[in-house]
Amino acid sequence: MKLLMKRKKIVENEYLEKQVHKLNKIGIALTSEQNLDKLLEMIVWEARNLVNCDAGSLYIKKDDLLDFVVSQNDTMTKRLGEAKIKELFKTFSLPITKESVSGYTALTGEILNIPDVYEISKNSEYKINLDYDRRNQYRSRSMLVVPLKDNENKVIGVIQLINALDKAGNIIPFSGAMAEELICSLGSQAAVAIKNAQLTKDLKAAYLDTIYCLSEAAESKDKDTGMHIQRVSNYSVALGKKLGLAERELELILYASPMHDIGKVGIPDAVLLKPGKLDVEERKIIEQHTVIGGNILSKAKGPFSKISKEIALTHHEKFDGTGYPNKLIGEEIPLSGRIVALADVFDALINKRCYKSAMSCDDVIEIIKKESGKHFDPKIVTAFFDSYKEIIEIFEKNKDTPLENSTKI
Ligand code: C2E
Ligand code: SIN
Ligand code: SIN
Ligand code: FE
Repeated sequence: MKLLMKRKKIVENEYLEKQVHKLNKIGIALTSEQNLDKLLEMIVWEARNLVNCDAGSLYIKKDDLLDFVVSQNDTMTKRLGEAKIKELFKTFSLPITKESVSGYTALTGEILNIPDVYEISKNSEYKINLDYDRRNQYRSRSMLVVPLKDNENKVIGVIQLINALDKAGNIIPFSGAMAEELICSLGSQAAVAIKNAQLTKDLKAAYLDTIYCLSEAAESKDKDTGMHIQRVSNYSVALGKKLGLAERELELILYASPMHDIGKVGIPDAVLLKPGKLDVEERKIIEQHTVIGGNILSKAKGPFSKISKEIALTHHEKFDGTGYPNKLIGEEIPLSGRIVALADVFDALINKRCYKSAMSCDDVIEIIKKESGKHFDPKIVTAFFDSYKEIIEIFEKNKDTPLENSTKI
């Protein structure tokens, strides 16, 4: 008898050791995921793996609400497929009150480990919302609801695990203290990772905003070009995607391309804002905006400095070698420069400028086709027509709205 107990103890210890090892590995994985959406999915996925259960959801606290942000459910995914699941589980928000299990946990910081949610006592403070089951023809039974507490012990969200499974796939209750401890520990690591990813996301948004504002100030004092910078940046990412660039490269293009015309700060207004055609001298002056931009950005040290300098310097080079400032030919021009060249000209043509009126889509398409292999890399012209629908959407969504008290020229 004693021997048997000892054996059981050893097995339990081995199991625990394995789980703790897993937990450490998960912790490292979570800290290295910077993308918030991917991180949230990963947290639910790893939690479900750790205690073996059929489904799981994640809520993030935002002011007085819990935002429902992730839902995974193996049974329903098998039944309906991945795409349908994404559609079913639209984001929604719950008020944080003791009425719901997730609200209860968010409010009290307590773990709920419920063997069967259909058997919750009538006197209990929290109730189970059966909408999920009814809508999805699903039977929720065992449930483990754990708060995500950050390093200051504040609840930032809730993870809700549903239907623990034994080895044969039967639904069983979550295994008491062991499961609670594991998910709690994962929860605190997850909370810190979420806070970091949110901070990164906010910083990136603020950074992009700053780049847009400053680049726009340099671009022109003509408020008609207000959204030009954002559009060019977004077209460039769309083209990059079509060309199969990696996510990190797309991110570099998103942040670096807005600064392509930053060198225009060094061009006198008399030239930059001239209502009519430029003469030869003025043309020479304005072409300097590429070199000026390259010089300004060569002083930057951040992760985008190399590519932003490259774009500023090369976005007016032409594929056939007739561009400026260095008459580079073909693939001597960095890919980023070739991408922004097309994005920039497309937007210049389809909008009005202080020196020209807007062109029709048909005329713009005609020019871009004609310039394939001359001004533009044919590969990028192909990418442009392959992503034409998306490009037009970006154009429509980011139309210029001239400010009321702007000084028009
Ligand atoms: P932007 O206005 O952003 O134009 C970017 C590029 O779009 C131009 O580079 C050119 O390649 C193309 N583009 C713009 N309008 C037309 C057009 O009507 N037809 C054709 N085929 N292409 C067009 P580019 O020419 O090197 O000009 C660089 C910058 O110099 C322009 O940026 C603009 O700020 C200025 N600029 C160019 N031409 C004139 C002009 O006649 N008057 C004034 N005031 N500025 C000009
Ligand atoms: C990243 O996603 O790697 C951070 C972006 C940056 O380099 O600032
Ligand atoms: C690339 O396509 O990523 C490099 C080749 C080129 O410069 O076009
Ligand atoms: Fe330019």
